Amino acid sequence: MIKVSPSILAGDLLNFRSEVERCKKGGADFIHLDVMDGHFVPNLTFGLPFVKSLARDRILPLDLHLMVANTDYVYEQYLAYLGKDDRMAVHYESTVHLDRVINNIRLKGVQAGVAINPASSIALLYPIVEIVDFVLVMSVNPGFSHQSFIDYTFTKIAELKSNFPVEVEVDGGVNVGNVKRLASLGVEVIVAGGAVFTGGCVEENIRKLKVAACG
Ligand code: DX5
Ligand code: ZN
Repeated sequence: MIKVSPSILAGDLLNFRSEVERCKKGGADFIHLDVMDGHFVPNLTFGLPFVKSLARDRILPLDLHLMVANTDYVYEQYLAYLGKDDRMAVHYESTVHLDRVINNIRLKGVQAGVAINPASSIALLYPIVEIVDFVLVMSVNPGFSHQSFIDYTFTKIAELKSNFPVEVEVDGGVNVGNVKRLASLGVEVIVAGGAVFTGGCVEENIRKLKVAACG
């Protein structure tokens, strides 16, 4: 069954603990944390203190998506709070020494992912894909929740899946209308912000995504 990683950015940040607990009740597999710095992406979200609080209570495994301009300089501070059930994705576009960063994440026993923007070619990942635990394919331009899925990213996911046996996580604009197609392409994990936290009940929205993926 497809794994669901709700993006807390789309939830009620004043009640983030109860939002995460509801995600757990609904059968979520991770909680997706969008760390944004206002430089690599236009939005500024949360940083180390927030991640530290969530890591302390371990309600769900953490799925950290680092969207910062200076990945090489800051990733180790986040890594310090993560453990063996957690995962962390750094962007191809903002990580200078990508091989070193991926290896250091894996050395800590944390699953290491490389995230790639919609307009970046999958071919850029060919050297690194053999040593990552997963690829985070962005299906929107990173920065905000509630954007529409960019259709040409289906082709990128298919290209990746047909060439490498790597786990793929898809992030941005995923909903009950497109999750089945993603599952058919072999996508293992979906991130969902708006589809989980907007309208209806969080627990039920997660279940609906899982059911829709099975078709
Ligand atoms: C966008 C973030 C996403 C976003 C997902 O930059 O990386 O994780 O919060 O939200 P939806 O599912 O609403 O596109
Ligand atoms: Zn994300």
